[in-house]
Amino acid sequence: MKERSLIWDFPVRIFHWALAASFAGAWLTAESERWRDIHIAFGYTMAGLILFRLVWGIVGTRHARFSDFVRGPTAVWNYLRSLLTPRPEAHAGHNPVGALAVIALLALGLVTAASGWFIEADLGGDWLEEAHEVLASLMLGIVGVHVAGVLFSSRMHHENLIAGMITGRKPGHPGEGIRNPRPIIGLLLLATLAGFWGWTLSNRLQASTPAAVMDKNPAANQHRDADD
Ligand code: HEM
Repeated sequence: MKERSLIWDFPVRIFHWALAASFAGAWLTAESERWRDIHIAFGYTMAGLILFRLVWGIVGTRHARFSDFVRGPTAVWNYLRSLLTPRPEAHAGHNPVGALAVIALLALGLVTAASGWFIEADLGGDWLEEAHEVLASLMLGIVGVHVAGVLFSSRMHHENLIAGMITGRKPGHPGEGIRNPRPIIGLLLLATLAGFWGWTLSNRLQASTPAAVMDKNPAANQHRDADD
């Protein structure tokens, strides 16, 4: 059996699954006025995660670094051509084609969240709301391509990439593994996410207490006074 090397550090794995969850959450709450604050919180989570990832792409571990996977058109072309041969190029981190989807998802995630922030701040107009929706749909399309690519690549290279993004380990790639999965940074990221969501949910709970609803809706107050 092939030895498994540690490829993805802990912060990258937390980042990935938290980003996937926040995109899914933002998508599912997009149309509802009742869930608006939660939709916005998912947007902030996405933006915060991506800003963290941009920094981690510079100072993170070997395969988390942009310098490890951002490649030019020649590398992309060579990788694609190698897929037609009996021995396709194997990459410990992202392959050059997968990396294109990764970069597109990071860029789109940030621009989509920023456009949502501008809408919330009443900057821009109807066109910005349209643009926000188009960007989110584009991102959904690329997520589809990304997941299809992950499944295709797992089959092609006989390795389970999804398990790799959970455990951090991939079979093979001797000498390319990292030593330190950076657990403290991962735990700090998790604690920040938990703190932000704890604060968001407790605000929501407070806003839904009868006293808060009365304060926000004077008409309901008048009704109550009339009833008294
Ligand atoms: C729903 C929204 C999703 C988004 C926005 C997303 C985004 C990303 C990003 C940005 C990366 C690069 C990670 C990094 O280098 O930090 C990545 C990698 C990866 N994603 Fe996703 N992802 C999503 C859903 C999924 C799902 C549902 C799966 C599993 C079926 C998945 C499986 C993977 C795997 C296996 C990798 C590593 C690929 C490799 O080994 O090169 N992703 N994803």
